[in-house]
Amino acid sequence: MNRSLFVANWKMQFSFHQAASFIKTNIGRLSALAQLPDVEIVLCPTFTDLYAAALLVQDTKVMIGAQDVSRFESGAHTGQVSALSLAEIGCTYALVGHAESRRLLQESCADITQKCERLFAQGIIPIICVDQETLEEQLASITRLLIQVDPELPYAIAFEPAGAIGTGNVPDKDYLQTVFKQLEELCSQNPQPFSLLYGGSVRPENARELLAIKQLIGLLIGGASLDIANLEAIVTQYR
Ligand code: PGA
Repeated sequence: MNRSLFVANWKMQFSFHQAASFIKTNIGRLSALAQLPDVEIVLCPTFTDLYAAALLVQDTKVMIGAQDVSRFESGAHTGQVSALSLAEIGCTYALVGHAESRRLLQESCADITQKCERLFAQGIIPIICVDQETLEEQLASITRLLIQVDPELPYAIAFEPAGAIGTGNVPDKDYLQTVFKQLEELCSQNPQPFSLLYGGSVRPENARELLAIKQLIGLLIGGASLDIANLEAIVTQYR
């Protein structure tokens, strides 16, 4: 795929007002990034902030993504948010299986696959987060779902190595190249278009080297995405 995807995972770092104010203050700069040729910018605030964020970016090419979704379609599931609601408020993407929520919610690969199923049904692109430990099992689980869904529905895989999230430690390039080659081989067995992302301590200083990995089309950015100058410095290093 000839595009570069930059996903800002804001986690629970901003409050509602902080997220809205970040977008309002920086809307011109965010919009300019999203207008770079073949660049996609996705902001992932918390559930409560999504709708306001979607309204604030509506006249730009900036997209909105959720940080999670319920694995249930609808019904008596207190505290859950459905894929339908995410679609209705304008989410284009949703993260699933992020290491932080996987740990907290004790999610299995099957749970995460079910979330993907809900997202596909609503036309939302899942960004499935995996690490060294979950990569093969999660890919096998997703493949069982992909056999049954429309071959044109895109998905993304974000490889976030354990130990890289929020630590400043990024694995060496040779190791990442091997992993992304393996991911590409596994994903190519399915007909659906896929995008491979790297996540974990992405910074302006390491973005260029990461983006040089052949199979990679983008980055999942946590801490560094909370600062507009850092986000710009990362995005403008795309090939
Ligand atoms: P980080 O977070 O960039 O702060 O390491 C990435 C993530 O958890 O998605």
